[in-house]
Amino acid sequence: MPRSVSLADYRRQARRRLPQFVFDFVDGGAGDETTLRANEDAFARVPLRTRTGVDVASRTTSTTVLDNSVSLPVLLAPTGLQRLVHRHADVEAARGAARAGTVYVASSASAFSIEEVTRGAGHSHVWFQLYAWRDRDVADRVIGRAADAGCSTLVVTVDVPVVGLRDRDLRNGMSIPPRITARNVFEGARHPRWTRHLLTGPPITFKNFEGLVPASRGMALMQYANEKLTNPATTWVELERMRRSWPGRFVVKGVLTAADARSALDIGADGVVVSNHGGRQLDGVPASLTALPAVVEAVGRDMEVLLDGGVRRGIDVLRALALGARAVMIGRPYWWGLAVDGERGVAAVLETLRRELDLALALTGVPRVQDVDRSVLWEHSAGAGLGTG
Ligand SMILES: Cc1cc2nc3c(=O)[nH]c(=O)nc-3n(C[C@H](O)[C@H](O)[C@H](O)COP(=O)(O)O)c2cc1C
Repeated sequence: MPRSVSLADYRRQARRRLPQFVFDFVDGGAGDETTLRANEDAFARVPLRTRTGVDVASRTTSTTVLDNSVSLPVLLAPTGLQRLVHRHADVEAARGAARAGTVYVASSASAFSIEEVTRGAGHSHVWFQLYAWRDRDVADRVIGRAADAGCSTLVVTVDVPVVGLRDRDLRNGMSIPPRITARNVFEGARHPRWTRHLLTGPPITFKNFEGLVPASRGMALMQYANEKLTNPATTWVELERMRRSWPGRFVVKGVLTAADARSALDIGADGVVVSNHGGRQLDGVPASLTALPAVVEAVGRDMEVLLDGGVRRGIDVLRALALGARAVMIGRPYWWGLAVDGERGVAAVLETLRRELDLALALTGVPRVQDVDRSVLWEHSAGAGLGTG
């Protein structure tokens, strides 16, 4: 098998290793996947500007994100159900992030408890992500455990009042855990390494909620997630209550507009993630990169703005930073690394982005990533070259 030198190579390798319905679960988006495609395409529409005659002999990709020192401005986005592709799933992903020197945002929808994940990652940075739960008491207890486990930052995801309709999953009859059907048995036989991982790790449950919510076992997890994990009645009032009860940094993930970013600021959030959930929620919304400038304009002086969705190259990281993001997060790309080679694969994906970002810094004449601004863009007037996504 040829060496993987780009994130697209990892995707190709992951595709070979995983049954189609699992690959589709990771890869797919809502509806016609126009937003999913736009996320990646938007980056390509922002041309970069070279600058020569600058001393770039000594360069650094290190920076800080909400007071966490990171060796590159790329964090691992919270993603649930990683156990579908690896026996040690979230624990290995957190280790991969630690190995590369960055933050791991642990999803609460994990087969491993937050204590297992933070222990696995050693003393490096692990943040904790939660949806606004229906049962406030359950949410508060889990949040308390995350604080005790050493998580400095709580990320509350606000773009899932209801779970998006992902056509590929519906077409594949996707269920979690995978149902034993003739087709799945056939797929399992064609992918023995994946089957070994599936059969030898812990059961696919939401470990953080074990014992707190009696129905978490037995109920199909997808249905469980729809019925319990998210709360369509959540308003900024509840989010403000969550913010007040959390002692550390508080980030709102899943805003696309200046108005929502201002609401996050008003409730006392320290940061927002400009995100459309990787194109998995409302198909038809603009690419995250397209939405970024207006959010930065509205709140960028008062809070840190992060972005996720479609980051596949070091130059994409540079573009997002140039448009005002403090850092980016990646979702699918680290699943590809995880599926291919566990912790090492996750770290390798991050190292690939670091290598590419470092090169881009040299060629745009900005030796320190913290100094990246619009001067690295070909047209550095507001929103130039972005189109509408
Ligand atoms: C398989 C999968 C599971 C996800 N699970 C969660 C989750 O539990 N919580 C959350 O806030 N976002 C979740 N997301 C969204 C990611 O955090 C992130 O917004 C998105 O993946 C970024 O886009 P990218 O995959 O193009 O990098 C998930 C995304 C994927 C692909």
